[in-house]
Amino acid sequence: MSDLKDSLLSQKEAFDAALSKVTDSAAAEQLRVAFLGKKGSLTQVLRGMGQLSAEERPLVGKVANEVRSHMEEILSARISEIKELEKSHKLKREVIDVTIPSSYEGAGARHPLNMAINEICDIFLGLGYSIGEGPEVEYDKYNFELLRIPEGHPSRDTQDTFYITDNILLRTQTSGLQIRTMEKQKPPLKVICPGKVYRSDALDSTHSPVFHQIEGLVVDKGVTMGDLVGSLQLFAKKLFGENTKIRLRPHHFPFTEPSVEVDLTCWSCGGKGCRVCKGEGWIEVLGAGMVHPEVLENCGIDSEVYSGFAFGIGVERTAMGRYGIDDIRLLYENDVRFLKQFK
Ligand code: DAH
Repeated sequence: MSDLKDSLLSQKEAFDAALSKVTDSAAAEQLRVAFLGKKGSLTQVLRGMGQLSAEERPLVGKVANEVRSHMEEILSARISEIKELEKSHKLKREVIDVTIPSSYEGAGARHPLNMAINEICDIFLGLGYSIGEGPEVEYDKYNFELLRIPEGHPSRDTQDTFYITDNILLRTQTSGLQIRTMEKQKPPLKVICPGKVYRSDALDSTHSPVFHQIEGLVVDKGVTMGDLVGSLQLFAKKLFGENTKIRLRPHHFPFTEPSVEVDLTCWSCGGKGCRVCKGEGWIEVLGAGMVHPEVLENCGIDSEVYSGFAFGIGVERTAMGRYGIDDIRLLYENDVRFLKQFK
């Protein structure tokens, strides 16, 4: 009996000594298993109790229980201490210095194409136009047919497009919005319609298969070419400055008659001739004309009573001129170093 008692007491000493060296939760758990686990050394000693006599057993049992409770108590006290320590270490390690400057880049900038669209639309809004829009996936009849561009017409070739089906395509121009507008609204009307258009052109420094146009349309009684010229002159001055002049060159568009191409004095040299305008002094920015009577009639508007003008502005070219951008591809690459400059 005294053998067992001795070995219990020496277990206790060994446990106390080992515990004093324990500094983390993993080591504490190891110690628990080593002494108190199923195969632990205290458990082994207690197994020996079976050989004791009936009188001895309660006496040794009492010591055994004391030793076990002692071990459990000081172990759990040590574990709480260790947990506290580990927690405070973790807090120290993960401390956040709120005074370090952040890496937040800030809000982005409006894209130069949207800036140009907004600037242009604002000018026309100021002249009493309202904004219109329509689908990019368009019926042939709106993009071509009702604009007097029947199948086989040569101007379909220059606007080689992406067909979805035989009569549905990606619109090649915003001019179809003239038809859509006149189908819905009757004159007097004044609209400006910005939007994306698509042509199967290869991408180079001045061409892109996706680009933007802004279509303008005015229909009322007694609208003349003089109104068109006056409106465009005002637009050019507002966008590029008081000294900007416009020049009209006769042209052909199937949906306007007469039709013109409109040049602005070069925004880079003011008209003297430079690299930007290729020595011309002028840069072509839009197409325009008086709405063809047949187009009015196609939309149920009496061409004997009403007349109108229309124009289509190339947004990319205007934006490039306005903000000094020399390659159209910069507008589509989404390079933040480029876009940041427009903040
Ligand atoms: N839609 C023409 C184009 O893409 C531009 C244009 C020309 C629009 C004359 C017009 C216009 O409204 O009257 O080339």
